[in-house]
Amino acid sequence: MNLLRILCISASNNFRPGVKETYSYQICKTVLDEADKHVTEIEGEIIELKNLTLSPCRDCMKCLDSRRCVTDDTFNQIYEKIIACDILFIVSPHYAPVPAKLCMLLEKMEEITFYRWEKDTSYQSEVYGIKTAVISHGGGSGNEFAQADGISQTDYKKVVNDPIANALDTIQLKLIPYDDEWNTGIVVKPETAEQGFDKKIGQYVRQVLSIEYGDYR
Ligand SMILES: Cc1cc2nc3c(=O)[nH]c(=O)nc-3n(C[C@H](O)[C@H](O)[C@H](O)COP(=O)(O)O)c2cc1C
Repeated sequence: MNLLRILCISASNNFRPGVKETYSYQICKTVLDEADKHVTEIEGEIIELKNLTLSPCRDCMKCLDSRRCVTDDTFNQIYEKIIACDILFIVSPHYAPVPAKLCMLLEKMEEITFYRWEKDTSYQSEVYGIKTAVISHGGGSGNEFAQADGISQTDYKKVVNDPIANALDTIQLKLIPYDDEWNTGIVVKPETAEQGFDKKIGQYVRQVLSIEYGDYR
């Protein structure tokens, strides 16, 4: 079995006092731990957007030729890592609605692909078909529940997963659904590692891996 490169993007921008590891980062670690149980050779990496400085797309259209952002080397470095990975996990908290740095990343990837596709609809982007999974969560404060009943996960889907899925479609990344209902990824309850993570995370990771490898068990 070949080396499997899994890249996890943690979209949290949480610098809240007392938060040592954001919930998004903890989910990314859980994803890699789960993958490690099932795949012999894995190269996992977590990119925490909170530690990076990105800028929004200016619609200068220079990426039409360069296929890279001419003003944002940090973006370009992330983009190279996405191009090189086999499976991408995007873990995003609910902000208002999606964290700004994740939007900046998606904006630039979208335009790099869209401008070319507009001229030639057979164009396949450099990230064409890379399997991508989306995991969202929310909470209101730090790592806790916003509401005792775990708020409406369908609401989180509508404002976080679905818009991300929409962008992924233009970028030509291949979103892996969880099931018919959760067709744009999963929404998880914000338990911490100590509390025991939502079982859906492990299930989703196994599904994504089984698409890669067939029945790997
Ligand atoms: C700008 C901003 C807006 C937010 N809006 C919402 C919201 O509308 N609904 C919600 O449940 N949580 C909201 N949150 C809380 C985050 O979803 C919560 O802090 C997050 O789940 C924590 O995860 P993290 O540790 O990965 O940052 C917001 C947080 C920020 C910073």
